Amino acid sequence: MRIIFFAGKGGVGKTSVASATGIKAARAGNKTLVMSLDVAHSLADIFDLEKSLLDKNKGKPIQVGKNLWIQELDIQEEIEKNWGDIHKYLSTLLNTTGLDEILAEELAILPGMEEVSLLLYLNRYVRTRRFDVILLDCAPTGESLRFISIPTTLEWYIKKIFKMERTIARYARPVAKRLYNVPLPGEDYFDAIESLFERLQGVEGILVDPEPTTVRLVANPEKIVLKETQRAFMYFSLYKMNTDAIIMNRILPESVSDEYFEEWRNRQGEYIRQAEAYFSPIPIFPVDLFRGEILGKKRLASLADQIYGNKNPLGRFFDGKPYSLIKANGKYQLTIKLPFIQKNDVDLHKVTDELIVRIGAFKRHIPLPRQVAATTSVSARLDGTELTVLFEP
Ligand SMILES: Nc1ncnc2c1ncn2[C@@H]1O[C@H](COP(=O)(O)OP(=O)(O)OP(=O)(O)O)[C@@H](O)[C@H]1O
Ligand SMILES: [Mg+2]
Repeated sequence: MRIIFFAGKGGVGKTSVASATGIKAARAGNKTLVMSLDVAHSLADIFDLEKSLLDKNKGKPIQVGKNLWIQELDIQEEIEKNWGDIHKYLSTLLNTTGLDEILAEELAILPGMEEVSLLLYLNRYVRTRRFDVILLDCAPTGESLRFISIPTTLEWYIKKIFKMERTIARYARPVAKRLYNVPLPGEDYFDAIESLFERLQGVEGILVDPEPTTVRLVANPEKIVLKETQRAFMYFSLYKMNTDAIIMNRILPESVSDEYFEEWRNRQGEYIRQAEAYFSPIPIFPVDLFRGEILGKKRLASLADQIYGNKNPLGRFFDGKPYSLIKANGKYQLTIKLPFIQKNDVDLHKVTDELIVRIGAFKRHIPLPRQVAATTSVSARLDGTELTVLFEP
């Protein structure tokens, strides 16, 4: 089993690179699924498929070649399947607040429902071993980070908030019914959340296990794109996901000698060198700007050849551990590889059994083992790209 996330800034070539990888993996005999995590689906377009084919298929995988499937979710279908009671409650709630019924139904599609639905699929495919390879075509960085944070956030919510909410609702329901028009969620709403959570069990383990799963970041040799790629790398590392390659897409080929592009070429060369310095030892795979858009299997196959050459596209090109926790001299030492941060960016808090790492607007709860949580003093040290957090009794 092999799972690869293709992530990066908007428009850099994630869908093209994921699809190209899919073509090469399928040709090597692996049952391969390319799955779109982006609400603005474009897989079908890249494979030059009729949109009606997708509509008929209601968000299930469609075979597009030998050993190759693509899947784009249909949120309406997913709501019916997975979100029935939750959606029903939310739309009733919005409806009682005076919203028109149709609008209320629309608004009751919460951000995250689509992502959770995808995680449910991923979990199921891994369990049933339906595919050998799952390639995930991510939404632009920000949204894909929300995606990978869902399992931890949900776990936190279920553990800390859910039971309390449920109990409060149980006691308050009869009173609230008399006092307010706004309905409190019923038991079926809570049951639905609980059952969703149960079906998600294990998915976080899949995401962070470097054995099946790695992330490939797609980038272009441009200043703003590189900045975002570095940030994405840091966040994926924080989520303990292993990045095994950077695909540097859209490099002007040597054969374009027109003077008009000279500045582009010089700048690109400079940014590629910078990227090598930043990401080393993670390998960078350069890819030329093609003559035209990359549509259809033939072009995708030549894109795959450019990216991987003779290499196996399913290889693990880098095997670094972004996290480690050891015990030395009676102290616990948590080491997190966080490239590109300055010490004053990092803010640490230990709250009972978790460590909260805050970097700018980003926050991550790191659950701590019981012995580590029992320590009282926390200090941090930054050596190059390694943040070492020391826990002392
Ligand atoms: N190496 C390349 N040469 C020429 N065109 C390319 C190359 N890579 C991607 N493209 C084209 O760039 C456009 C955007 O690519 P793609 O849809 O794969 O990007 P994306 O990162 O998935 O975008 P989004 O963030 O919108 O999902 C497409 O028209 C694609 O054909
Ligand atoms: Mg895309």
